[in-house]
Amino acid sequence: MADREYGFDTLKILAGYDSADNKYSVSPPIYHTAAFDFRDTEHAENLFTYKEAGYLYTRVGNPTVTYFSERVKALEGAKNAVAVGSGMAAITFTLLNLAAKGGTILASPYLYGGTIDSFDRLFPEVGVKIKLTRSVLDPAELDKELAESDDVKGIYLESISNPNAYLPDIDAISKVAHKYGVPVVVDNTVATPYIYRPLEHGADIVVYSATKGLTGHGNIIAGLILDNGKLDYYTEDKYPQFYEPIVMLKGKSPKDVFPDNFFIFRATLVYLNLLGAALSPNDAYLGILGLETLSERVAKQSSNALKIAEYLESSPAVEWVRYPKLSSYKYKEVADKHLTRGGGGLLSFGIKGSKEQEALFLNNLKLFHYLVNLGDVRSLIVNSPDTTHSELTDEEKELADIPANLIRISVGLEDVNDLIKDLDQAFKAAGLLDADSSAA
Ligand SMILES: Cc1ncc(COP(=O)(O)O)c(C=O)c1O
Repeated sequence: MADREYGFDTLKILAGYDSADNKYSVSPPIYHTAAFDFRDTEHAENLFTYKEAGYLYTRVGNPTVTYFSERVKALEGAKNAVAVGSGMAAITFTLLNLAAKGGTILASPYLYGGTIDSFDRLFPEVGVKIKLTRSVLDPAELDKELAESDDVKGIYLESISNPNAYLPDIDAISKVAHKYGVPVVVDNTVATPYIYRPLEHGADIVVYSATKGLTGHGNIIAGLILDNGKLDYYTEDKYPQFYEPIVMLKGKSPKDVFPDNFFIFRATLVYLNLLGAALSPNDAYLGILGLETLSERVAKQSSNALKIAEYLESSPAVEWVRYPKLSSYKYKEVADKHLTRGGGGLLSFGIKGSKEQEALFLNNLKLFHYLVNLGDVRSLIVNSPDTTHSELTDEEKELADIPANLIRISVGLEDVNDLIKDLDQAFKAAGLLDADSSAA
């Protein structure tokens, strides 16, 4: 099927799956198996030497998992894709694959806290330096930074960032990075391909925590790595890992075996295969179901989020609000130009009160779930500086623009008036609003 002929909403229903391959089962089957029979010894040898495509063991490939990654690949407009067991696995495998021989990754400081934890704790252990710097987000500064260093193996940033909902100018950033032959990796978890597709803005690799809005029901942990198939940045002198023979390839290199897909192939062969973190077929199936309603969910989350952002901005209980569709938004020009389908479901605000009042506010909410996930059909709330981003140092929090009073909201699909009333009554319970004031 030539998937790109269809519109986004058609692709989210049918891309990557043909019922004729599965006895005309309209819903993709869950291949609940650890291993796959070899027809004979020749078949085994062909699979092990990549002479023939097929499945042998679910840690490195399973048809249900492929249906899931193929569908996201079509939605993203990517060339190659692999699904993995979590967003963290997608990020880690990607950056290890880029910096397998050491080097530096320049990263935006506006990131999920777990990502920063991995940068502080995991990557230095394996000889990869990750530098968090706001210069990644400023093309002129990035140009200076790249001109001064020749060991940068990749740029890493989030499109709509967690928890601030910042959307930097990825077109401009990628242009500078490419001038120095450096690929750009974008975590597009918060945005989802419904509202933003980084590959169309110059990014080379997209990673997802598919745990979040992409699948949208808060019932799986999953991740994906996708690329645009432009592999000429990976030159032999700078990225020898793609050109060196690997024992598992019987003396061949990833580039020899898959010249058009050696980045994701190596990530699969070396990291998914050897570190594990495989996506279960059952979770891939739930992911496929979630994708089927991606547009409808994110469109409603965006419209609910805008109303909540406007309510919060008008509330005396609130110091500031960060949401891409507000006129006060830091990257308004980029958002106005590129977020044509809505601002997404994530917003953050500064609560105007003491820590005790913040606790009273959170403890008195009735509809919002107080937890650390994002992108669910349910509305979620969390005090990021004390939870998801609590392991950041004070300097990292400052660099990441996360003040102590930040509260993050992931807006769900409930009736927005009920959500606003819930916030309002919790502000009142915390003594932040007069008891007789009414919700906007
Ligand atoms: C933006 C972002 N990227 C990556 C992750 C990690 O994903 P996972 O929890 O699926 O490992 C998260 C988790 O909160 C996230 O918010």
